Amino acid sequence: MALFLSASLFGLLSKVLAQDSFDPLEYVDPLIGASNGGNVFPGASLPYGMAKAVADTTSGSNQGGFTLDGAPVSGFSMMHDSGTGGSPSLGNFPLFAYTNCPESDINQCVFPKKTRTMFGGVRNDSIIAKPGLFGITLNSSVHVDMTAAHHTALFKFTFLTVGTDGQPAQPLILQDLTDLSSSREDNGTVSVDAETGRITGSARFTSSFSRGQYVLFFCTDFKGGDILDNGIFANSRASADVKEMTISRSINGYPLPGGAFVRFKSGAEPIIARTATSFISAAQACSHAETEIPTFDFDEVVDTATKAWRAKLSPIKVSTEGVNKSMVTNFYSGIYRTMINPQNYTGENPLWESSEPYFDSFYCIWDLFRSQLPFLTITDPTAVEQMIRSLIDTYRHVGWLPDCRMSLSKGYTQGGSNADVVLADGYIKGLRGGINWQDGYAAMVKDAEVEPFDWCCEGRGGLDSWKSLGYIPVQDFDYKGFGTMTRSISRTLEYSYNDFCIAQLSPSLSSTPEPDKEKYILSSTNWMNLYNAKQPSAWWNNTPTGFTGFFQPKYLNKTWGYQNPLNCSNQDSFTSCSLQNTGQETFESSIWEYGFFVPHDQATLISLYGGPAQFVARLNYLHDQNITYIGNEPAFLTVFQYHYAGRPSLSTLRSHFYIPRYFEPTPDGLPGNDDSGAMGSFLAFAMMGLFPNPGQNVYLITPPYFAHVNITHPVTGKTARVVNKNFDPSYQTNIYIQSATLDGQPYTKNWIDHSFFTEGKELVLTLGRNESSWGTRVEDLPPSLGKYEGFNTTYSLRRAMAAKGVKRSGGEGNGGEGVNGRYTPGFGLLQGDKVDV
Ligand SMILES: *[C@@H]1O[C@H](CO)[C@@H](O)[C@H](O)[C@H]1NC(C)=O
Ligand SMILES: *[C@@H]1O[C@H](CO)[C@@H](O)[C@H](O)[C@H]1NC(C)=O
Ligand SMILES: *[C@@H]1O[C@H](CO)[C@@H](O)[C@H](O)[C@H]1NC(C)=O
Ligand SMILES: *[C@@H]1O[C@H](CO)[C@@H](O)[C@H](O)[C@H]1NC(C)=O
Ligand SMILES: *[C@@H]1O[C@H](CO)[C@@H](O)[C@H](O)[C@H]1NC(C)=O
Ligand SMILES: *[C@@H]1O[C@H](CO)[C@@H](O)[C@H](O)[C@H]1NC(C)=O
Ligand SMILES: *[C@@H]1O[C@H](CO)[C@@H](O)[C@H](O)[C@H]1NC(C)=O
Ligand SMILES: *[C@@H]1O[C@H](CO)[C@@H](O)[C@H](O)[C@H]1NC(C)=O
Ligand SMILES: *[C@@H]1O[C@H](CO)[C@@H](O)[C@H](O)[C@H]1NC(C)=O
Ligand SMILES: *[C@@H]1O[C@H](CO)[C@@H](O)[C@H](O)[C@H]1NC(C)=O
Ligand SMILES: *[C@@H]1O[C@H](CO)[C@@H](O)[C@H](O)[C@H]1NC(C)=O
Repeated sequence: MALFLSASLFGLLSKVLAQDSFDPLEYVDPLIGASNGGNVFPGASLPYGMAKAVADTTSGSNQGGFTLDGAPVSGFSMMHDSGTGGSPSLGNFPLFAYTNCPESDINQCVFPKKTRTMFGGVRNDSIIAKPGLFGITLNSSVHVDMTAAHHTALFKFTFLTVGTDGQPAQPLILQDLTDLSSSREDNGTVSVDAETGRITGSARFTSSFSRGQYVLFFCTDFKGGDILDNGIFANSRASADVKEMTISRSINGYPLPGGAFVRFKSGAEPIIARTATSFISAAQACSHAETEIPTFDFDEVVDTATKAWRAKLSPIKVSTEGVNKSMVTNFYSGIYRTMINPQNYTGENPLWESSEPYFDSFYCIWDLFRSQLPFLTITDPTAVEQMIRSLIDTYRHVGWLPDCRMSLSKGYTQGGSNADVVLADGYIKGLRGGINWQDGYAAMVKDAEVEPFDWCCEGRGGLDSWKSLGYIPVQDFDYKGFGTMTRSISRTLEYSYNDFCIAQLSPSLSSTPEPDKEKYILSSTNWMNLYNAKQPSAWWNNTPTGFTGFFQPKYLNKTWGYQNPLNCSNQDSFTSCSLQNTGQETFESSIWEYGFFVPHDQATLISLYGGPAQFVARLNYLHDQNITYIGNEPAFLTVFQYHYAGRPSLSTLRSHFYIPRYFEPTPDGLPGNDDSGAMGSFLAFAMMGLFPNPGQNVYLITPPYFAHVNITHPVTGKTARVVNKNFDPSYQTNIYIQSATLDGQPYTKNWIDHSFFTEGKELVLTLGRNESSWGTRVEDLPPSLGKYEGFNTTYSLRRAMAAKGVKRSGGEGNGGEGVNGRYTPGFGLLQGDKVDV
């Protein structure tokens, strides 16, 4: 009996141990996206940490600091963004190290950033990159390991040779008042304490995707060697006699090099530099350093960071059985990248006094709203609550929700006021924790109602036209607010969806609830006003695509303008499609792709496109002809929109078309900028088998890429599971869902809501080699504002248009069904309706 008991106890124990021995960090490779334009930050950071330590290269693609493309290192800095395009952010106050200066003469060491790179060649096989740790050896035989606490980084310099020409090692470590994009303005300051070698200073820099500037302070201390001397450098000359300096930007195109240095008597032992930054003061930077890393214990800081990452990634556990390890690495590395940005600058905001959290590096919400923030809502809802509180607090003090925010500055808006989607998504998924939703609702309504004088960087433009005409006209007349007058089509589509999102908040949050809800539901149908049913689309050589009916620009006088529906597609490398004054009427994507951006009313869109079969043919054409580009965020949802046409199997097929072909777990494996973790979150959701339609309580179901996935909700503690029966880990057969059960009951809907995660439900998918009828009936389809009725009639469309008094482009008269634009929760799916496929 005793023997039996202990044996079974042993069995139980080893089972528990086996489960606990699953370490997600084994599958994280921070170097994914470190070349080929992924622009990922591959260095050492805590989740959402402000300190991000890495070696910075001179690559033209060094937005994330380090690149694995052969470019040499110019320094080691501790502030970064991740995955962004545009100018590089941050990278302030880099350190650089020499084993000695020739003939022990400091003036023979090379100080300026542009020239010291000749000592910055990278030994490729030396690179160590793990969550919380980055290490690299330069061809100058200096090896540098780095790790990070929240505001403080540790750099451990190891000198592998005793010095050139048999001279003794007298290591010199310099700190440069520069940043990645050489944006320093006048009056950078630096001083070095003769006795301790502590370097402090500050400088004003330019934010990367904005007109703003920010002032950053730093504090650096050293440990590990006796100080030989120290001083400052200006341009290429240095002196140990001078201990402080205020430096001009100079009249050249880049700031004059300048900073401080400390020299040590011996390089026999590693020298550790501890450097912290603060947006408040150098004293606060020093205080962060002293409290966060009091003992300079490198291994202990690595250990703390490792544990922090393990805790963040552990809520998601997948069965690795049979699956190519590269798939698991893809998955967990993608999840890891969702928690580099946004960054937690709570206590570091000099712009206003507040007890609310402050997050920065929402870079940009146009990228993040689609899957990154929805992903964190599942795995780290407490963090998203704090981010939403920060967005709302930014509205309180700056006047508007941001669309993009980095380095304390308002970034440029790309399309709509998409923070509205972030708030709606959090609200309908039950985020509450200290969020003042009244203020959140007021912020969203302000986006819809009040036009900023300068809508470069917040709110919306063209609101007079929007309200009077129901669309943003091309070549609008707007004398109240000013911004780049392009993107009239994509702005109309995004404003429409933003309005739908406003209507997702509970009526109890506003003083005049119901009329607002009705009003925003009605304006959320404005996208229809730019639909030209007669517009064909042909290739540059006039070969027809075979599809008719596209969004088109419309003038103030309600006549149509023209933009080739293929302009700004992946097949168009000629046209300017970003924020240029000559930009097109769609932002960074084509009318073809924006033609699917009606996230709230796929049913009506399907009707417009001639029914589900035509809708599917159009989606296939979009993907198969490379019109879409999976490396930019508008493509994400199009992979899964087959669900709305009753063809969930085609979403699965399309997901496998892109993963891993366009997402290899290698440094050059990402299809484009990671955009702060947006690509990583796309991978994580797609491979988990549940893709969100953000702003709605909807996840579209496809089979996970693993035999099962367990997702433990960090707040409720409940574990949701998706299980694949008949799973084929090679994905060659059995990728299609034949049937499903939810908590043991048959489940035929092709989507599920957020209670799946909070209540820890179990979804069991039975897979087979052929497409089945699972999830294909109208009652199985995800919610849509219009009705999935007939599927080959335009009844609901005519009715919605009649409600707004607009005429259909095809010349049809008003439908005359009477006003019926009412929004009904549950979306009024007709029982028994069939999908015509
Ligand atoms: C290091 O790797 C990069 C990227 O593969 C390559 O461009 C570079 O030439 C390599 N450097 C050396 C010294 O092999
Ligand atoms: C070290 O790397 C730099 C930058 O790549 C290069 O210019 C230099 O020649 C290299 N030096 C040695 C000794 O390999
Ligand atoms: C630099 O300092 C001078 C003198 O105090 C001041 O006039 C100038 O505005 C400062 N420039 C910047 C960019 O702070
Ligand atoms: C997922 O949960 C199930 C049920 O508790 C458990 O048997 C399985 O081992 C878990 N999977 C992983 C990878 O932890
Ligand atoms: C695993 O995936 C990698 C990367 O796609 C591939 O190179 C390798 O051949 C695969 N291994 C197996 C056993 O299929
Ligand atoms: C952000 O930082 C503040 C202050 O250090 C802390 O209280 C909060 O928990 C942090 N938030 C997250 C999500 O880590
Ligand atoms: C409407 O305005 C456009 C742009 O100014 C102009 O080209 C077009 O002729 C106008 N159409 C009518 C009917 O006035
Ligand atoms: C579309 O692209 C073509 C080819 O790149 C270009 O000539 C044209 O100006 C662009 N704009 C429109 C409105 O067609
Ligand atoms: C689309 O692009 C892929 C690779 O980028 C290429 O293999 C394929 O031939 C392209 N298809 C078309 C229709 O251009
Ligand atoms: C499944 O598809 C295969 C290949 O298309 C076909 O040969 C087979 O008959 C199908 N099986 C069923 C049960 O429909
Ligand atoms: C609509 O569907 C009905 C019944 O399936 C069919 O008879 C009719 O031709 C279809 N109309 C159009 C315009 O496709």
